Amino acid sequence: MLYDSLKALHVLSIVLWIGGMIFAHFFLRPAVAELEPPVRLKLMSDVLGRFFKAVLVTSLLTLISGIWMLGRVAKQTVQSGGSFDMPISWTIMTALGIVMVAIFMHIRFALYTKLKRFVSASDWAPAGGSLAKIRQWVFTNLIIGILILLVVLLG
Ligand code: HEM
Repeated sequence: MLYDSLKALHVLSIVLWIGGMIFAHFFLRPAVAELEPPVRLKLMSDVLGRFFKAVLVTSLLTLISGIWMLGRVAKQTVQSGGSFDMPISWTIMTALGIVMVAIFMHIRFALYTKLKRFVSASDWAPAGGSLAKIRQWVFTNLIIGILILLVVLLG
């Protein structure tokens, strides 16, 4: 029951994280591209600030629930006298999942902090540069996330 609940939490966290990245990249960004830089950058900074607050929680939930499930399966296997051989899809999910969390922390605490500072100072050119870097890293995380889903769901 606890295992299944954590697995549901794990998958729901991923749904919010990946769904939000798809929305920001493919739907929001093209729609605001025509706006004047001050309006566009203020809006994007505000929207991303709200999204990143949620992702900070869900990325940590993904990591903690994933590691807990791994530990639980490994412990039960060893206690019942077997040896725990982690499936290759789980190894890929764990390694790439940690990379995704690290990239998110870079986006949130390095790039987004700069974006917010430039937007507050109405320094639009460097703010645009920071937003472009955020977009590239969010897209990288999206590709990694989809790759993990394909490996886990098809593998
Ligand atoms: C951060 C490190 C992560 C660890 C340690 C981890 C570990 C796990 C474990 C142990 C399971 C349970 C598998 C089962 O009982 O069948 C699981 C399920 C799952 N994980 Fe992860 N995971 C991590 C990150 C991710 C990420 C980033 C994604 C997607 C982008 C992801 C997608 C999934 C999905 C879709 C399932 C359900 C699979 C199924 O029921 O068939 N995980 N994860």
